Amino acid sequence: ISRASFPKGFVFGTASSAFQYEGAVKDDGRGPTIWDKFSHEFGKVIDFSNADVADDQYHLYDEDIHKMKDLGMDAYRFSIAWSRIYPNGSGEINQAGIDHYHKVIDALLAQGIQPYVTLFHWDLPQQLQDRYNGFLNPQIINDFTAYAETCFKEYGDKVKHWITLNEPHTFAVQGYDVGLLAPGQCSILLHAFCRVGNSATEPYIVGHNLLLAHASAVDVYKKKYQPKQKGRIGISLDSFWYEPASGSQEDIQATRNAIDFNLGWFLEPLIKGDYPSSMRSRVGERLPRFRKEQSMMLRGAYDFIGINHYTTWYAKKNSTNIIGVLLNDSLADSGAITFPIALGKPVYERANSVWLYIVPDGIRSLMNYIRKEYGNPTVIITENGMDDGNNPFTPMKEALKDVKRIKYHQGYLKSLNEAIKDGCNVKGYFVWSMLDNWEWGAGYTSRFGLYYVDYKHNNQRYPKDSVAWFNNFLKS
Ligand code: GCO
Repeated sequence: ISRASFPKGFVFGTASSAFQYEGAVKDDGRGPTIWDKFSHEFGKVIDFSNADVADDQYHLYDEDIHKMKDLGMDAYRFSIAWSRIYPNGSGEINQAGIDHYHKVIDALLAQGIQPYVTLFHWDLPQQLQDRYNGFLNPQIINDFTAYAETCFKEYGDKVKHWITLNEPHTFAVQGYDVGLLAPGQCSILLHAFCRVGNSATEPYIVGHNLLLAHASAVDVYKKKYQPKQKGRIGISLDSFWYEPASGSQEDIQATRNAIDFNLGWFLEPLIKGDYPSSMRSRVGERLPRFRKEQSMMLRGAYDFIGINHYTTWYAKKNSTNIIGVLLNDSLADSGAITFPIALGKPVYERANSVWLYIVPDGIRSLMNYIRKEYGNPTVIITENGMDDGNNPFTPMKEALKDVKRIKYHQGYLKSLNEAIKDGCNVKGYFVWSMLDNWEWGAGYTSRFGLYYVDYKHNNQRYPKDSVAWFNNFLKS
């Protein structure tokens, strides 16, 4: 398989996010974010690290962009740090932050690499969290829209692909239910280090405000900027694929629910203007409703749907509902228990992360599900990749031999190619990630890069074997 197996114009790139890559958290007037706070709290990050330096891409972007060029990539997906543009989340603009991203974008364009810009990849300005509870409060819709509009105005002549939000599902569930991600609200029973939260309602309120913020930003872009700037705008949704753990009707239904509560929660409002009916009936009063004009604004509020896809899990009916009884959380609301595919048959190979099994067929199934259930919208795979562990005793020479990663991408690309032949409308593929980087609660223990980053020695980057593989894939 090579680039030539994909349709003409299909875009290949790598993806990153500001908080995981940039470092320089105090430089040039950047304001603090919920992730700065969370990562400095005791016990939130497995290796007690933080992202104060991370890959230092804030300073090393030019070097990295040259590497992308050498790799043969067409595009780079990165995020703008909201708190570099508005250190307080709203109000006064920080010119130094604005200037920084002009430099990055110009450096990309100089190499012929298309910028795909994410506006919100989880690093909410702390001020907005303190002032009104961030995404729990509908005030966020105006502040996000104002920030987005500033970006359209500043960069829209150069940036032709916008992604409003990254993984609203993960942000809502992990941030307000499971509590493993900032701001770490969750049911106290699940994680000893959590603040007490209200996981029965908060993920749904946060999800609702995320959707409305997205729709509002898209509306401004489409009305005021798109006619002249002629860019495209979308969103990046995370979705696993799910297979029923058995052939029973109950497990098949549970699998469908699991997909609704992962993908449908955010995709269905964009396609049909409302939440999946399974969610409406299962969550009941706790699920906010869209007013008619909101529903109309949501429907069709995208030019493309970004999908971040990594792995496949099993789903089965949650017959005891014990989790639900204890926690009443959004995972239990689905009526499904989901678990890694390793526990079934056949047994698949795992990456480093406990949740990440290598199941290439899953991407084809997911793409076909979107095609059939949601009218075949334009899809871009905005993330796909796998991690190695960070064993301090592994000599770097060993760490650079990432045979498994090559197999992973080869498998997923083949399967994606099949999906395109099935008729799925997929237009691009972004590897997560070009560089090893700071993996949220897993800190530096997880290495997702095509390049190895030597955190102990000035963040020097070394190509793993997958660099040569991609180089060859893209050239031939
Ligand atoms: C996201 C992802 C990335 C992760 C990647 C590996 O939100 O887009 O969580 O930031 O690093 O998915 O887990």
